[in-house]
Amino acid sequence: MNRVTKLLGIKYPVVQGAMQEVATADLAAAVSNGGGLGIIAAGGKTPDQVREAIRKAKKLTDKPFAVNLMLMDKNTPNVVKVLIEEGVKIVTTGAGTPKPYMTDLKAAGVKVMPVIPNVKIAKKMEEMGADAVIVEGMEAGGHIGNTTSMVLWPQIADAISIPLIAAGGIGDGRGVVEAFVAGAEGVQCGTIFSIAKESPVGENWRKAVIDATDTGTAVVGTSIKGGATRGIANEEALKLMELEKTGVSRDEFNAAMNKALYKGVQEDDPKESFFMSGEVAGLVKESKPAAQVIQDLMDDAQRVIKKGVEIF
Ligand SMILES: Cc1cc2nc3c(=O)[nH]c(=O)nc-3n(C[C@H](O)[C@H](O)[C@H](O)COP(=O)(O)O)c2cc1C
Repeated sequence: MNRVTKLLGIKYPVVQGAMQEVATADLAAAVSNGGGLGIIAAGGKTPDQVREAIRKAKKLTDKPFAVNLMLMDKNTPNVVKVLIEEGVKIVTTGAGTPKPYMTDLKAAGVKVMPVIPNVKIAKKMEEMGADAVIVEGMEAGGHIGNTTSMVLWPQIADAISIPLIAAGGIGDGRGVVEAFVAGAEGVQCGTIFSIAKESPVGENWRKAVIDATDTGTAVVGTSIKGGATRGIANEEALKLMELEKTGVSRDEFNAAMNKALYKGVQEDDPKESFFMSGEVAGLVKESKPAAQVIQDLMDDAQRVIKKGVEIF
């Protein structure tokens, strides 16, 4: 037990990162049933779709789960209402500041954990009343900041006193131990859960992650404010880079990228889909049930700790 497992009411300090289109009620419930914290991604969904997903997750698990808000979504104010009405107890936030919603969420007893990319924002979130921060390095899949996990985690651990959950590049027990040594009390993983058995992605998406090497991802949208996003370096990633060069607006670029992500999950087309994925895809070798992903992470972390003790 540590501050993160106590705060979230979970057995293992493992959080499944929100993944737009991928983090469904089925995946979130499977993670929560496996002793971690499952998260439903609200990004790109209508308030009714979010309500439906929450109700489904409640049927599939009696364990805690969370919902992730992509704050730039225009639906966010109404999604927040749904979360409060449905009694969701844990919320993570990305792509913006949760400030406008903090009072209502806290009044409803919701624990708020913003996903953050630097020391300045970490301090701001602590002052704003966040219960923990999820510190994500630029190795991660999806939207990213500018700093790598290895240097970011310890600097933020030194700067705040609320619990730190480390994200970005964690794929096995070595990553878990690295995060804890840097000052984290929990880990959030996206890529390794994106191809779990309970994930909705198809065979081509799974194959793209499993076949990816250490240099198999690319970052698109780097010239667009808040647009940098990592995924498998396939034909669609190149097309998105070309689109970016034409000087499209942020909204146009995001619309094209979200369309390609949606296509990835719904159609599994290897040429026209953007398979969001982190650099850790190079370590992922098989698709397993979510509970097994968690158990393997924990068992491997024990092995790594024993090895570390022998070395030092
Ligand atoms: C397919 C995919 C979609 C993602 N969508 C979201 C999202 O909607 N909201 C969010 O906060 N983070 C999102 N992320 C980031 C993850 O929640 C997580 O922090 C990240 O994947 C961790 O790094 P890793 O991929 O190296 O494990 C996404 C990641 C992936 C791979």
